[in-house]
Amino acid sequence: MRILVTGGCGFIGANFLNLSVPRRPADEFLNVDALTYSANPNSVAIASACPNYRFQKLDLADAAVTEQVVREFEPNLVVHFAAESHVDRSILGPRVFFRSNVEGTLNLLEACRGLGSALQLFHHVSTDEVYGSLGDTGLFTEATPYDPSSPYSASKAASDHLVRAWGRTYGLPFKVTNCSNNYGPYQFPEKLVPLMVLNAKNDKALPVYGRGTNVRDWLYVTDHCEAIWAVIERGRIGHTYNIGGNNEQANLTLVQHICRLVAAKQGVSPEKKLSLIQFVADRPGHDHRYAIDASKIREECGWVPRETFASGFQKTVDWYFDNEAWVHTIETGAYRNWLETNYVQRQTR
Ligand code: DAU
Repeated sequence: MRILVTGGCGFIGANFLNLSVPRRPADEFLNVDALTYSANPNSVAIASACPNYRFQKLDLADAAVTEQVVREFEPNLVVHFAAESHVDRSILGPRVFFRSNVEGTLNLLEACRGLGSALQLFHHVSTDEVYGSLGDTGLFTEATPYDPSSPYSASKAASDHLVRAWGRTYGLPFKVTNCSNNYGPYQFPEKLVPLMVLNAKNDKALPVYGRGTNVRDWLYVTDHCEAIWAVIERGRIGHTYNIGGNNEQANLTLVQHICRLVAAKQGVSPEKKLSLIQFVADRPGHDHRYAIDASKIREECGWVPRETFASGFQKTVDWYFDNEAWVHTIETGAYRNWLETNYVQRQTR
């Protein structure tokens, strides 16, 4: 099988390739990635060492080149990860999100339409943020109406709609997965978990938005990757599957947990790390709570997460301590500029 993976140098895409390429030597993988700020070719070293892996730099917003790459590779399976993904960046600069997530998806779909029956499946990787925010109770199901809050989630919602429309109108064989918050190796430290691990490790401030009462459902990244394979192999064409970790945590509780893990690794008192927590100005339009009903994927595809909250976060903290060379590769000027833009002007409450 020829498998086209978009955005494979990003966090989830890289984990997907590192897991999948060595396991499937008979399949041919092509990773296409625009290599923008958060993509890192070093993240995909495990996949790159395999003979059935190839990389090509590609910006999906370029329709003509996308068409050419897809026509030449003629994939049987497309797994579409490529997206701008950071909510705070989308608030400060929304346009690039629509270019990548909407135009990019449109161009990929159009290119795939030309493949005819060679294409067995277009798997679209999406987010639970398309559903908006929950109150203190309830769960997102596959039937929850779309109600995105941020420019990021609006762009992902639009891309989901495009995929379903290409299915209905042109008969494109597709599946969509909407997943909760991921964490684990190779995550760019603009996101809550790696930012807090690295800042706590280096005794820097830990900026918690608002009062830290917002709740997210945390899933270890390779559990997400296994879930995608479960849906590819056992899910129904034209269906959507929600993926979640059943690990709801308030942000403050999670940051405190990270502080304790980091303190234990450094052999210092937890209080030293906990005292780094600073409450800062909230994110505009900040969704209160996400939580997933994952019964459909469990019942139809037989998927359940392997990692627990304790095992997943221990592994993650260990990974950031053990992989300083990787961390150095992303601590570029662009990353420092982002910290300046997003945090220095955020007032401490
Ligand atoms: O739910 C899935 C989504 O999870 C994905 O679709 C997104 O691409 C991904 O970025 C993530 O979105 P969040 O906005 O939930 O993730 P983030 O790591 O940015 O923030 C997690 C929570 O922590 C959120 O409530 C905001 C808060 N936060 C975040 C940062 C970066 C802080 O309190 N302080 C921070 O410095």
